[in-house]
Amino acid sequence: MEFTPLRISTVKPLRDLTFDLYIFFKEHYLCYAKRGEQLSEDKFQKLKTQKIAKFFITEQDEVNYQKFLDALLDETLSNPKIDLEEKVNMAEGAASSAVERMQKNPTESAYRATEKAAKSLRQVITGNPDTLKKIFGKKVEKNEEIIKHSLNVCALAVKLAEVKRCTEQEMDDLGTAALIHDIGLTTFNKDDIQLFYKPKKFLSNDDKRVYYLHCKDAANILKEKPYVTPAILELVMNHEEVASGLGPNKKKKLSLQEEILSLVNNYDKRTITNKTSPAQTLKDMMIDELGNYELNLLNDFKKVLQTEGLLE
Ligand SMILES: [Fe+2]
Ligand SMILES: [Fe+2]
Repeated sequence: MEFTPLRISTVKPLRDLTFDLYIFFKEHYLCYAKRGEQLSEDKFQKLKTQKIAKFFITEQDEVNYQKFLDALLDETLSNPKIDLEEKVNMAEGAASSAVERMQKNPTESAYRATEKAAKSLRQVITGNPDTLKKIFGKKVEKNEEIIKHSLNVCALAVKLAEVKRCTEQEMDDLGTAALIHDIGLTTFNKDDIQLFYKPKKFLSNDDKRVYYLHCKDAANILKEKPYVTPAILELVMNHEEVASGLGPNKKKKLSLQEEILSLVNNYDKRTITNKTSPAQTLKDMMIDELGNYELNLLNDFKKVLQTEGLLE
């Protein structure tokens, strides 16, 4: 039997499960709750704090779980009585699960889950001014860093796109592309993945050649999938491009969406590799990246970071 991972924050207590919920414990999949059952508040809280257990559904239950999650997201995000913390946790859980699934096996179901997760994140961000602060305030364990980076890029990119008056479709595309932009990194071996953590200015030409392969790798993974639209494919493929033409595809003329994704990716990546504060990272970028992004966009990005309280 094949299993699909999920985050426990995307399941709720006292709600009929429409799928069998498994935990992975001591090298085994154990059915923890059956469809039709509910998780008690108590059991749910215990599961949430349980770091050793991972949660799964069977591949056959993917459709049932997705329907369950879609309804739960719609209800949770539109309910004014539910606090922001819970909304953010659920949208993040949906996004993290989706990215993890896309890394492992980019099926249509995983892709649709990614689209829905990106939309949900955007919905929380648009409706609640403190969302970005909550998202960026969270730290994760090392093995979750690339997923967290993808969520950060998604959140900041849709916010900047909103300021730049992109259309709904453009914002949805940006959100989805941002979540999967680095799935090419999953094909890297243990040594090469270290390049993700190395500051760009210390990458040798050889390092760059290897590191930049992740853009092509992602494109190769996605281009055969009929459900991935050309717009998403282009965005993913060009997420490391810069106007000076020094990106992996040497592209100089970037669309606004491509420039937003590249800029935001560059920013979040710097905070990981250079370990600089948000304010310092921005300062460095205003100097280092002048020929790479429109000054106008850099300034709008600075405004976003300021108004969202991310520079404090
Ligand atoms: Fe990348
Ligand atoms: Fe990235």
